[in-house]
Formats: sequence, C-alpha cells, structure tokens
Amino acid sequence: MKKVFSGIQPSGTMTIGNYLGAMKNFVKLQNEAECVFCVVDLHAITVPQEPEVLRQNSLNLAALYIAAGIDPNRSTLFVQSQVPAHAELGWLLQCIAYYGELGRMTQFKDKSSKKEVVTAGLFTYPALMAADILLYQTDLVPVGEDQKQHLELTRDVAERFNNRFGQTFTIPDPYIPKVGGRIMSLEDPSKKMSKSDENPSAYISMLDEPDVIRKKISRAVTDSEREVRYDEENKPAISNLLTIYSLFVDKSVADIEAMYEGKGYGPFKKDLAEVVVDGLSPIQTRYAELLNSGELQDILREGARKATEKSEPTLADVKEKLGFLK
Ligand code: AMP
Ligand code: TRP
Repeated sequence: MKKVFSGIQPSGTMTIGNYLGAMKNFVKLQNEAECVFCVVDLHAITVPQEPEVLRQNSLNLAALYIAAGIDPNRSTLFVQSQVPAHAELGWLLQCIAYYGELGRMTQFKDKSSKKEVVTAGLFTYPALMAADILLYQTDLVPVGEDQKQHLELTRDVAERFNNRFGQTFTIPDPYIPKVGGRIMSLEDPSKKMSKSDENPSAYISMLDEPDVIRKKISRAVTDSEREVRYDEENKPAISNLLTIYSLFVDKSVADIEAMYEGKGYGPFKKDLAEVVVDGLSPIQTRYAELLNSGELQDILREGARKATEKSEPTLADVKEKLGFLK
C-alpha cells in the first residue's frame, strides 16, 4: 500500500481553495493508501502567533479534518508539535539543505518581501516540511499547486542524503489535482484564493454561513460575454467558478457547461451558491459537534502515539548514519 503524508497550517480560516485543492483529496486517498495527516503548528510559528489563538486554531483544524471526512481510525491524524521527531529531523535536514536552494523558494520570497522582520524559521521552513514528509517514507504528497516547489526541494534533499549516506528516504511524488490545484480569488481571478487576502470577499471560508456564501458568489467577478464556458485564458473568472462547481458536485466541467447552455451567468451563479452551501453544510454541522464533544484531545493523543511509532525507525536510521552516539 502506498504511503501518503500531508499537512495544513493552523492559521485560522480554511478556504474552499484549501478544501478543493487539498483536503478533499486527502479524504479520497484514505481508501487506497496508508495516510498520515498533520496540523503543522511548528510551521505556523514562522510568523508571529498569539499563543491562545494558535492553540485553538490547532484544535479547530483537527476538528475540520475529521468533519471533512478524515477518519482517525483509518488515518493517522496528529499535531506536529506533539511528535518531537519533526523538529529533530527538521534540524538535521537544515544541515543537508543549501542556503542557495532555500533562497530560491518563491513562497519565501513572497512572504518575506515588504516585511520589516523575517524570522530564520520562515527561511528554513522547507527543510522542516521535507522532514515531515520523509519521516514516514512517504510515496505521495497531496497538495495544491503552490507547494510544488517545496516538494521538489524535498526530493532534492532526500536524494542528496541517500547519495551521501546510502538508501534512507523514499523519494516522494507530489499529488496535485489536475482540476482544483489552484482555486482563484473571487475578486481577481489572476490571484490564488488565499485566506490571507485582506478582502474576505475574495475567498469563501469552509465555515462561512449560507447567506455569506450566497452574497460572495453573487458578487464574484465574471467576464465579458454571457456564456458559461470554460476558457482559462479569455474567461478566467467563469472558468474558476466552473471548477468550483464541478468539484463540489463531482461532475465534469463539460457537463456543467451543457447544463447552463444559453442561460447566462445569473442562474449559474445562483445554483453555484446552493451547491457550495450544500457541500459545506454537513461539514459545518459535524465540525460544531466535534468541537463540543471533547473527544478531540483523545483522538490527537492517539494520533501522536501512532505518528511517533511510525517515524521512529527513520529518525534512528538518520541519526546512526550521521554519526551520532546511540
Ligand atoms: P495552507 O493553508 O497554506 O497550509 O495550505 C494547505 C493546503 O491547501 C496546501 O496543500 C495548499 O497547496 C492548498 N491550497 C491553499 N490554497 C489553495 C488554492 N487557492 N487552491 C488550491 N489549493 C490550495
Ligand atoms: N507548506 C505547506 C503549506 O503551507 C504545509 C505543509 C507543511 C505541508 N508540511 C507539509 C504540506 C508536508 C504537505 C506535506 O501549505
């Protein structure tokens, strides 16, 4: 059975971009692979965090994973800081990764530009991400398009280590959905939908109320003409909305184009709002139940135990190869 690993930062809001690009695929992969999913709180502190808010965001994200369909009995679900092997291998891989290759990461360039202070952790972040993945001998890493470069770095670091010290790490492949790997902003279809957008109309949160979703979709920008047709180049806004529709109802874009032939944008957007509301509402209900149930802590404790057990052999092997005392 293939091994899958992925992580999401507990940074507050989760958008339907996170859901369609990442989480929805995690749920699917549970049926065919041995899956490990992580709340990457060590990654979150590369930028300033309010301690109590971070603690709550980590619990919220764990609840959202389960509400979206991650089954903690089948998959391992845990919080990164509760498994010390991540920080430990993260350091070791900082000593394998090169300064130059880290400096080429576009996410680092974006997140550090125009900032007064930039932590060293923001710079070395991809080495920690490589550790997350490599600890579990991962074959496949489901992520959105924006993580592709980090995956390439992970592969380079793993290959470098294997060449120098002998076979140690499985070389992981990215698993990026052909449709949905990059959900765009509702306000500007040339930009990625992002929870850090200062304008909340640009994204739909997985926890937005039905009326908020309806309002955001009715106001979403469209393109010239009136035809509901997929054309990324000339109709980027409608193409993005078609992608969202298609993923929520599990139908092809062509099927949806056919449904709205000759009908214009109005009815299409109205139905899309209901599709998104209906897709998110069971998740929102389960999420609220979980947060009130008190079972989360136990699930995460068990997840951390399983993750520790799975990661131990790889960490021991790495330390032995690097020349550390037993
Ligand atoms: P983050 O919230 O940055 O930790 O991202 C969690 C996951 O969601 C990563 O796999 C991202 O690649 C994915 N993701 C974030 N934004 C989008 C988007 N707009 N479209 C598709 N995937 C996304
Ligand atoms: N860097 C990822 C993001 O910002 C989160 C992440 C951390 C991750 N470690 C990972 C994703 C390991 C996949 C595998 O979205």
